[in-house]
Amino acid sequence: MGESLLTQPFVRRNGELHCGDIPAAELAERFGTPLYVYDIRRIAERVGAFHTAFAGVDHLLAYSVKANGNLSILRRLHAMGCGADITSLGELYRARQAGIPGRMIVFAGVGKTVPEIEAALEYGIYAFNVESRGELERIDEVATRLGRRAPFAIRVNPDVFAATPHEYTRTGTASTKFGVPWDETGDLYLWAKDRPWLVAAGIDMHIGSQIVDATPYVRALECVLDLVTELSAAGVDLKFLNIGGGYGIRYDHDPGMDVDELAAELVPRVKSAGLRLILEPGRSIVGDAGVLLTRVEYVKRSGRKHFVVVDGGMSELIRPSHYGGFHAVAHTMPSQGATTRVDIVGPICETGDFLARDRELPLPEQGDLLAVCTVGAYGFAMASNYNGRLRPAETMVDGNEATLIRQRETLPDLVRGEE
Ligand code: LLP
Repeated sequence: MGESLLTQPFVRRNGELHCGDIPAAELAERFGTPLYVYDIRRIAERVGAFHTAFAGVDHLLAYSVKANGNLSILRRLHAMGCGADITSLGELYRARQAGIPGRMIVFAGVGKTVPEIEAALEYGIYAFNVESRGELERIDEVATRLGRRAPFAIRVNPDVFAATPHEYTRTGTASTKFGVPWDETGDLYLWAKDRPWLVAAGIDMHIGSQIVDATPYVRALECVLDLVTELSAAGVDLKFLNIGGGYGIRYDHDPGMDVDELAAELVPRVKSAGLRLILEPGRSIVGDAGVLLTRVEYVKRSGRKHFVVVDGGMSELIRPSHYGGFHAVAHTMPSQGATTRVDIVGPICETGDFLARDRELPLPEQGDLLAVCTVGAYGFAMASNYNGRLRPAETMVDGNEATLIRQRETLPDLVRGEE
């Protein structure tokens, strides 16, 4: 099980799962488990695919830091020509630490605070993605006080439905908290025209996450381009269009978004509008470049079910329990024998603590090492200390070299700052 869903960097040699050129078992031995492993060559391949697909238009890949904000990854992404899409002071800090310059950073999010706006202005970010009138007024106040020009793009809520696997990852309809309602956008740009420190630089949208079809992007883009034309007639000339992120990847047997197909739809339209294109991919850059290695602690039976209790759970990877997310699970060593139906569960005291349910695989034994696939995005980034868990280590593999890029937390880390 999970075999056919392994991505390129995770191949079997003599039946043994490798990460890059290194056996998974060797990584687990060296760094312990649970362990996140990322293949940097796969990440580079994905960045390359985006750059090539969108080569026909001036573009910026503003990698969405929330998907995986590890500094080593950000540094490498920047070296590949990526900027950053950030959502907080913390992510701004990460991007700065990774050496990403302000001119390659866009700032999204519905709740920007005054200190966040100040820091972003001081760092000279490329643009704020504005989510409400109140936020634009606040940016204006801060920019005026600091005497700094504030480039912005209004995030339009295009009220376009995009199918995503879970309602929590839909953002493009009027019923979500995101963006400025369609019919209020024009007025907001016109209001900003008279504010000397505000610079209407672009327009922004983001319709959801794990979208595998180009159609909703095209529909939303066409609405937004109409608005750009109307604004231009009213004397507001925008320079860029930010289409957001959300490009889906393959978790189960459904194929992910075809980036070339998406580009074929978007590039000519954006180009003929004379705009620069900003993209905010997260998952589609890092998602399938990561696995979580976890060791079997116990195998137990209850009723007709086998439970495989492993040393990682919802504290390491919350996607299965929070979104019903599917992640393939594979033995790292050759495993023969009849398959049986198992639940792979963690050590947390919650029935919702599972990594996989009702999977067919050769029954694992205590001490076996399993790989949970496609966890490079929203894996470690959403890890927690619940149940007094120490957040796991992260490693990066480049061919036959493995580097520890985040130490496993220690018990003192757990209580740091407490009295
Ligand atoms: N831009 C904006 C404004 C966003 O809100 C997001 C994701 C992205 C870009 C990047 O989306 P991506 O390309 O990674 O799909 N934790 C959930 C996903 C939440 C996405 C939140 N926003 C999950 O594990 O599926």
